[in-house]
Amino acid sequence: MDERVAVRLTVNERPVEATVEPRCSLADFLREQLGLTGTHVGCEHGVCGACTVLVDGRSARSCLVLAVQLEGAAVITIEGLTPAGGLSRLQESFRACHALQCGFCTPGMIVTATELLQNNPSPTADEIRDGLSGNLCMCTGYVNIVRAVQQAAAP
Ligand code: FES
Ligand code: FES
Repeated sequence: MDERVAVRLTVNERPVEATVEPRCSLADFLREQLGLTGTHVGCEHGVCGACTVLVDGRSARSCLVLAVQLEGAAVITIEGLTPAGGLSRLQESFRACHALQCGFCTPGMIVTATELLQNNPSPTADEIRDGLSGNLCMCTGYVNIVRAVQQAAAP
């Protein structure tokens, strides 16, 4: 039987103290223990990118990270990138450009695109495609996603 392990971290800038099973993924911890269901779980083995969050400012696949590894870390989820009562500039661009259909991939896309724009505020279309290449979308064909990120980046 697994023993639970104590972990302390911040999630969306709020301190969290919890006990977790050693095998619990960060994705399951966020969704099931913290109720942050904006982080989606698709493939559960690091391929689709739906579960992407920021860990200490860098994108990470939360299905591949164990919650116990996050002691002292700062995690930002899609909820943390969403202003209270509104949408971020990037989220507005996704809506305006019709960059989603079912929306399953969208939280991961937004998280990855946020990191991309932090590192490269004026990316080319090719740089956006490259930056988002680890996030799979089954619906859109990607054209409007690239357009949305370009629009959000525009001064
Ligand atoms: S659910 Fe994590 S990469 Fe697909
Ligand atoms: S909008 Fe459906 S998977 Fe991307």
